[in-house]
Amino acid sequence: MFDQLTQQPKDKILALMQQFREDPRPGKIDLGVGVYRNAEGVTPVMRAIRAAGAQWQQDETTKAYTSLAGDAQFLDGMCDLILADTAPRDRMASVATVGGTGAIHQALELIKSANPAARVWLSNPTWPNHPAILRHVGLQAAEYRYFDNESRAVDFGAMMTDLQGLAAGDVVLLHGCCHNPTGANLTMPEWTELAGLLLSKGAIPLIDIAYQGFGDGLDEDAAPTRMLAGKLPEMLIAASCSKNFGVYRDRAGILMTICASSADAALAQNNLATLNRLNYSFPPDHGARLVGLILSDPTLRADWQAELEEVRNGMLTLRTQLADALQIETGSNRFGFLAQHRGMFSRLGATPEQIETLRDTHAIYIIGDSRMNIAGLNAETVPLLASAIARAGI
Ligand code: LMR
Repeated sequence: MFDQLTQQPKDKILALMQQFREDPRPGKIDLGVGVYRNAEGVTPVMRAIRAAGAQWQQDETTKAYTSLAGDAQFLDGMCDLILADTAPRDRMASVATVGGTGAIHQALELIKSANPAARVWLSNPTWPNHPAILRHVGLQAAEYRYFDNESRAVDFGAMMTDLQGLAAGDVVLLHGCCHNPTGANLTMPEWTELAGLLLSKGAIPLIDIAYQGFGDGLDEDAAPTRMLAGKLPEMLIAASCSKNFGVYRDRAGILMTICASSADAALAQNNLATLNRLNYSFPPDHGARLVGLILSDPTLRADWQAELEEVRNGMLTLRTQLADALQIETGSNRFGFLAQHRGMFSRLGATPEQIETLRDTHAIYIIGDSRMNIAGLNAETVPLLASAIARAGI
């Protein structure tokens, strides 16, 4: 039987991670996988997570199963964090998932159960796991243009032109904050125009929000999602706690749906719980539990927000430092976009050969589509990267 299996294509992000690990060169720089690192190159356990973990170790009385939907404190806290008071709670359903990827997977399965004919529109480019999961689930994909390779900004005109092709019931996957892999994001007026188009076409947004707090601030980053939630009758939101709570390996995520009526919401809740049961029974609890504790405790929450602000401001400083260093190295302002982009990533706009040169000659690892993880840099590596980019002729 097993000889009937076919070799699966490699995920380019995970393949690069492996290649980096195997590289013996000292001083190698990893700007591949989207993991935050501090100035010492460490991905720290956040202070509030450590404190909540210590508290939970004392307070935890059982390891018995939770509910299929997951811990209510986590679900309520995340719903407030992302949507504040903009969404009608009586028209919502939510479940804890295995990280943000699990939320995307459950979202696509739910869409398939409700409307197998729906096309799911993905930005070009997008996170490579989006089309991969879509294929695996067996839904039809469509694509909309997103990024202007020349200006390294969103090509909003092309995006809106392509989305004219939406049919009623189609789903549009949007990066709530911030866009992966480009780092280029819609402005608020553009989001509002997009909401109007989705509404007029009868299309449903699926928001993937994995970097809330990494762009312009927790509320600012959630503003487009909140605006859409206030305007559209139906919507799905897949969120990850991996980055903003730093609980990558604990796999904490949530899938929320906003439905047209409370009866639909009850149906969605029933289906989401069943999907959890079919895929893995109960969602993982530990990471989600700590997030729930932090969000419901004012002291822990304040400390978490303060540390998240430090992380966000650190990334903004690195962006400015890199843009400035490149201006000096290249004598031009063509990398100014780095300071405009937001979130963990920026797409450099280099050729695959130039990316190879960075890796082979300078031991700098960037994804082949020229996405780099800004949070992998520090004050020492910024000038090294700037000089390598200039020498590679990017
Ligand atoms: C990334 O885009 O690098 C992260 O979201 C990690 C992953 O799972 O791909």
